[in-house]
Amino acid sequence: MGWYRNAINVGNDIKNKTSILQFDGAMSNAEVYVNGQKVGIWPNGYNSFYFDVSDFLVPGENTIAVRLENQPESSRWYPGAGLYRNVHLSISNKNKIAHWGTYVTTPTITPEYAKVNVKTSLEIDKNSKSQFALVQTIYNKEGQEVAQIKEVVGPYDINKKNQSINLPQPKLWSTEIPNLYTLKSDLYEDGKLVDSYKTTFGVRSLEIIPDKGFFLNGQKTVFKGVCIHHDLGPLGAAVNEAALRRQVRIMKDMGVNAIRTSHNMPAPELVKICDEMGMMLMVESFDEWKVPKMKNGYNLYFDQWAEKDLVNLIHHYRNNPSIIMWCIGNEVPEQYTAGGSKVARFLQDICHREDPSRPVTQGMDNPDAVLNSSFASTMDVAGFNYRPFKYPEAYKKLQQQIILGTETASTLSSRGVYKFPVTRKSMARYPDHQASSYDVEHCSWSDLPEDNFIQHEDLPYAIGEFVWTGFDYLGEPTPYYTDWPSHSSLFGIVDLAGIPKDRYYLYRSHWNKAENTLHILPHWTWPGRERDTTPIFVYTNYPAAELFINGKSQGIQRKDTTINVYNSGNKESLGNLERQKRYRLMWMNTVYEPGIVKVVAYDDAGNIAAEKSIQTADKATRLELEADRNTLQADGKDISFVTVSLIDKNGNFSPAEDHELQFRVSGQGSFKAVANGNPASLESFQEPKMKTFNGKLVVLIQSTDKPGDITLEVKGKGLKTQKIKLKS
Ligand code: GAL
Repeated sequence: MGWYRNAINVGNDIKNKTSILQFDGAMSNAEVYVNGQKVGIWPNGYNSFYFDVSDFLVPGENTIAVRLENQPESSRWYPGAGLYRNVHLSISNKNKIAHWGTYVTTPTITPEYAKVNVKTSLEIDKNSKSQFALVQTIYNKEGQEVAQIKEVVGPYDINKKNQSINLPQPKLWSTEIPNLYTLKSDLYEDGKLVDSYKTTFGVRSLEIIPDKGFFLNGQKTVFKGVCIHHDLGPLGAAVNEAALRRQVRIMKDMGVNAIRTSHNMPAPELVKICDEMGMMLMVESFDEWKVPKMKNGYNLYFDQWAEKDLVNLIHHYRNNPSIIMWCIGNEVPEQYTAGGSKVARFLQDICHREDPSRPVTQGMDNPDAVLNSSFASTMDVAGFNYRPFKYPEAYKKLQQQIILGTETASTLSSRGVYKFPVTRKSMARYPDHQASSYDVEHCSWSDLPEDNFIQHEDLPYAIGEFVWTGFDYLGEPTPYYTDWPSHSSLFGIVDLAGIPKDRYYLYRSHWNKAENTLHILPHWTWPGRERDTTPIFVYTNYPAAELFINGKSQGIQRKDTTINVYNSGNKESLGNLERQKRYRLMWMNTVYEPGIVKVVAYDDAGNIAAEKSIQTADKATRLELEADRNTLQADGKDISFVTVSLIDKNGNFSPAEDHELQFRVSGQGSFKAVANGNPASLESFQEPKMKTFNGKLVVLIQSTDKPGDITLEVKGKGLKTQKIKLKS
């Protein structure tokens, strides 16, 4: 249980104002007090909520207090605790535009103009004798005014004004060019400006066409998506914009075009970042409805709070162009209970009522149950978690004629860990509590990346997937469930420190069409494996490649494009690496000898397109430091993520040894946290020391609120001390 108190000063005219206190998220069971008086409660720890505290504030000093308490057994993953997101107080005149009171849609889009529909909720004293007018001005990205309408607010408009604005030559929001507009809504009372409210929006169209797919701005778009939990690894659940931006940047480089905010309401910062960076969002509300998954989970609150929670979520984010779909649930047990479809319908109806512009889905993991009842057919979009081999059956039975992979893969791997012999395995467990980075291991209910690629490439009605998960997260160390000291997941394509695993390059080779990928695995430093079979995999967008070990050709491998979803769907291919042959190049019989592994990639015409080599490393003698950003904002919040690697005397990365390192920060910054991505490490994220994990770790440096130079110094026994200079 935690109490937060804060003293704030407000002006003498506070009683003539409306004061709104907004929490972006408070974990959990918030009780809010102002000057000792209880203002309200909000159980859901992820949702944003607000209270009108006008009657509670007094001129001068006020105390705001919040009590938070997480119940045991209330979450299947690490939820964080406390005030982990921002709190805002906004004070305005009594006659005003309501909080979250605008709803902007773009129902008609042509190259010449877009029709921008604005519904504005007004809070105007009904007995007022004043004349009110609403001026809506649209500004482009550069801040120039591009459209405006001025209208008197008549008696019928009190509470809600409905307007259409003609926006000439609209620039669309897309994942490639995320163009944004700002709508400024100004409310005038007897010619005097009394409130001004800004809404960010985008001009873009969404459409789902049966049998054809999902269309963004009229272009068929397959979801190359990832599920992401809200925690930020070593930062815990506390929101941080730099950390979120880095996540989106890393995902975009992999070719991701959509994120599912599993399984809860996102931080507003993430939504803003996705608007700005061009990342679609499927925003989820619940992991649990009325039937419990966890003893003290949301089931305790569902009846009383589900509608309020969903309405808040939608009102908060319905203008954000990045959000393309609402997801009302994840693997809820209502899938197989009598009346489950009614609950689905109830929630979907709320979404339609509050925002008719977006489709609604949910993640279902019991295909047999949901296809044999009305559960799946109730949804706008039928979303399936895992079991992609059931998609054709689902397609035959469903009237929507569209299938979404709301959650896929759950492939397991640990960065830099390779297990021999290399065979496909389900629920494999090892004494070191890791999983193989050959990307051949998964859970009993799940599979490998390619088992999903093939569906969404070959089935015209499969509209894409959301991989479990983009990043490792705190909690759920499946398959080591309760095996101490495992404490974070192995599902991530990127580890808990934000360092890509090999799998990252497999997704990148298939998803990122704008860049070339050529990646070799495993590393080639295997003292003791001399003469042992050590398979080599290459992840590349090129169709073929030749492999050399110390100059000796190991032959050419070519992606087998004769394999398709129809001719490979048998039991054997689901249990072996048959389908993988279409997407990865595998030399299964290569033998380890120290030296150089070189890969030469060929394009479609058989010409050499790219080359890459890796080399057996010597003992590490020094460190390499690389910052994701060298210049920070001097705002006391910004973070630079510095990757530290062990390097041998020849300049090669040394992947097979580990050292404990110490960190010292001087100048206008401080040590914030450190992570190595080891899901079984017990080291603290907050101590300025940590052991590398397979040769790497990441140090987080935070700026102060004063501009200046920042230096990080990294030391380790037997290694040359290394410094990196940053600026804020
Ligand atoms: C799914 C579930 C996720 C996560 C995942 C692990 O069934 O929706 O939250 O638990 O399994 O594979």
